[in-house]
Amino acid sequence: MGSLRVTFVQQDGVEKTVADAEAGASLMVVARTNGVEGIFGDCGGCCSCATCHVYVDPQWQERVGPADEVEISTLDMVSDLQRSNSRLSCQILLRPELDGVRVEVAPGE
Ligand code: FES
Repeated sequence: MGSLRVTFVQQDGVEKTVADAEAGASLMVVARTNGVEGIFGDCGGCCSCATCHVYVDPQWQERVGPADEVEISTLDMVSDLQRSNSRLSCQILLRPELDGVRVEVAPGE
């Protein structure tokens, strides 16, 4: 079991905190494994479906870092894009400095 903490704010506003996420896992996989609502990960994490869209809490944006070009072009498919902090959660891999990270599940279609 890992030891990293991740908080997801689900679309209904209910927060789900996972306390035993593994370093190296993507936020999408952590969300799916723990029954977070609204994150589907239809493409299995290969950055092509955008069904794992989240908004990174502004306080965590710098540590999480920006999307790369491939991710940005996939993000362009979503209708609820927020240029400032939209990310695909399959492209955010957990590492120790992200312990405590907080993201909001995007509303979706
Ligand atoms: S799981 Fe498909 S883009 Fe993230």
